[in-house]
Amino acid sequence: MNLLCFQNSAGENVITKKTLIRIGQLLIFYLIFYAILAALFAICMQGLMATIDDVEPKWTQGDSLIGENPGLGFRPLPAKTEDGALIWYNDKNKTTSEKWINLMDEFLKPYLQNTTGKNMIPCDYTRSPTDGQVCIVDTTLFSHCSPENNYGYNTPSPCVFLKLNRIWGWEPKYYTEATEDMPEQLVIAINGTNEEERQNIWISCEGEGPADKEHVQQFEYFPHQGFPGYYYPFRNVKNYLSPLIAVRILNPTPNVIVNIECRAWAKNIEYASGNLNREGSVHFELMVDSKASS
Ligand SMILES: *[C@@H]1O[C@H](CO)[C@@H](O)[C@H](O)[C@H]1NC(C)=O
Ligand SMILES: *[C@@H]1O[C@H](CO)[C@@H](O)[C@H](O)[C@H]1NC(C)=O
Ligand SMILES: *[C@@H]1O[C@H](CO)[C@@H](O)[C@H](O)[C@H]1NC(C)=O
Repeated sequence: MNLLCFQNSAGENVITKKTLIRIGQLLIFYLIFYAILAALFAICMQGLMATIDDVEPKWTQGDSLIGENPGLGFRPLPAKTEDGALIWYNDKNKTTSEKWINLMDEFLKPYLQNTTGKNMIPCDYTRSPTDGQVCIVDTTLFSHCSPENNYGYNTPSPCVFLKLNRIWGWEPKYYTEATEDMPEQLVIAINGTNEEERQNIWISCEGEGPADKEHVQQFEYFPHQGFPGYYYPFRNVKNYLSPLIAVRILNPTPNVIVNIECRAWAKNIEYASGNLNREGSVHFELMVDSKASS
């Protein structure tokens, strides 16, 4: 109080003209001070917003923390706590199959939408989408792995669906020729593909260890053994869906856990196995019980 007020001779506090002026000066000072602060903040925000794009992320590929190595994912995904990443069922017991069939039904829902009147076109190696268009993922080509066939989960040969994680703007560099480190089966598959249709991110699945290789020897891939190049690069166009590959695991030895590894092949996909720093590949475990229920 002493700062602003004088005591008059009677000991009362009075506000003098001088202190009024001083209060006014303070108010004006803060008014201007905050106005400038607000203006600076607005300018900063403006600058920041101008660099943000609704569709294109600011940090892409090598710049971003995600990196430029797309990971592989698989479905149906077992709940980690429950099954320890194990896909288990008994092909003679509907209850055990249903769980996986339901998970797949749920996963495929967006793929089964009505495409008419949307920006979705059928693509092939001579027909890529133009700006604002996306390629249809044809779900009628999954053969033994189709929803109508319960994705194989009522047979001894179930299917697992593979999908490459999306990285904005990432462009695959294709292997149009087989290389020495590829599994033999993939070499044959590439060799058997028309040259014009080799712009693919190839896929190979194998039993992980020597014992696993004994237990599972044959895989089938629908619609193809690779993700066709015309789905890339992903640019966050509306209605985009990642292409899928259904891998049918043919007659794995019943009643044992089989470790399976699938790998994606492009010159710019790095590969590392192992559980800690897995790259460009995916691991899952499968056990098909085949005993009739007692
Ligand atoms: C898909 O949508 C179009 C237009 O919205 C409609 O004419 C057509 O009947 C629909 N097709 C199916 C299979 O639902
Ligand atoms: C690739 O296929 C051709 C015939 O189409 C055959 O002559 C050749 O031996 C095959 N190469 C490999 C590595 O399988
Ligand atoms: C099928 O599996 C479920 C879950 O494991 C079990 O509870 C059920 O008894 C089995 N049904 C038959 C017919 O064995």
